Amino acid sequence: MGAKDEFDPAQKSELELGTATEELDFASASEVDRRALYEVAAAWTVEDSPGKEPPPYEAFVAMWELHDDIGFEPPRFVVARRAGKIIGYGEVRISETEANAHLATANVVVLPDHRRRGTGTALLRAMLPLTNGRTVVEAWSVFKDTPGERFATAQGFRVVTTMTRQRLTIGDPPEIGDLPAGYELVTWKGAAPEEFVEAYVEALNGIRDAPQGETSLDLTRNTVESIRREEAATVPVRWIVLLLHEGEAAGVTVVEVNPAVSTVAEQLHTVVLPAHRGRGFGRLIKAHMLHNLEGVETINTRTSSDNEHMLRVNHSLGYEDRFVYMGVQAKTADLRA
Ligand SMILES: CC(C)(COP(=O)(O)OP(=O)(O)OC[C@H]1O[C@@H](n2cnc3c(N)ncnc32)[C@H](O)[C@@H]1OP(=O)(O)O)[C@@H](O)C(=O)NCCC(=O)NCCS
Repeated sequence: MGAKDEFDPAQKSELELGTATEELDFASASEVDRRALYEVAAAWTVEDSPGKEPPPYEAFVAMWELHDDIGFEPPRFVVARRAGKIIGYGEVRISETEANAHLATANVVVLPDHRRRGTGTALLRAMLPLTNGRTVVEAWSVFKDTPGERFATAQGFRVVTTMTRQRLTIGDPPEIGDLPAGYELVTWKGAAPEEFVEAYVEALNGIRDAPQGETSLDLTRNTVESIRREEAATVPVRWIVLLLHEGEAAGVTVVEVNPAVSTVAEQLHTVVLPAHRGRGFGRLIKAHMLHNLEGVETINTRTSSDNEHMLRVNHSLGYEDRFVYMGVQAKTADLRA
């Protein structure tokens, strides 16, 4: 093992230089390690945008201690250290739902000054046991023309989806428009009322025909039981607008308020079921949602870059495109090399 002052990137890998990887349980980690993990993540969020403020520490803590917005468990971490300090991490999330029992989602981040020395690769290898038998690994935060893209390609990941991130700064809520006869809107916050939960599940499962590239993520097998489990595990506040036609499901949209920054929310699933498409209901239910949210100033959303219709609906509500990113996929077995 060489000392730091002997470092010669052409000669020695970071591992040869003594970078250790180990598991880290975020919930029980020391405050120093929790902060250091945040510093790595925060540095990444601003690395291509000088002057930009990273999200606050509390936002990352909430993200790392809670289920994510598609029901995956809080992440398990491996970290890499130099001289005891965390310089990179890998995070893995799995889901207990049957629909996604094959899938782990992953993310690897290394501080810019410590890159190209094998740390990312070491973290990726060390993360594999955390996938807990999942046969497919997907990473959904890979940006075009960045080291992340080149790293993913070098590790054998392939691009399976391209997404557009959009943001709305809420001003005066838009016109909702009239509901045709036979239609009704129901709005709630938190757990679905018992009388609407079945229609809610049916509407959510209508996401099956939304363009989503070749990701293996399956969001189409919700059941009343899975929704109740998710509601019990979800701490952030969710707002739901359900569109009914003669009492039956016709569409839905879901917004989740950021648990650490209550003025920021994430627009999640929006679905209009096939029999009701082409009549402007996508825009209508989202506009109705904007009239109901209390205290939210900014909404972020992600949509497949191929989903022209939803992108257009969002533009018409005032959303602006921010950036495009990719989802990449590999078989877990192929990452073991
Ligand atoms: C992606 C990232 C984790 C890679 O970390 P790293 O420690 O530099 O990775 P490694 O040193 O193990 O790189 C392994 C291989 O990936 C490829 N690679 C990584 N960065 C690259 C770059 N900037 N340009 C070209 N190839 C690169 C190379 O093939 C490299 O092997 P080599 O150095 O022998 O040529 C790091 O760049 C990062 O933190 N980026 C921001 C976070 C991110 O984008 N994560 C998304 C991936 S899930």
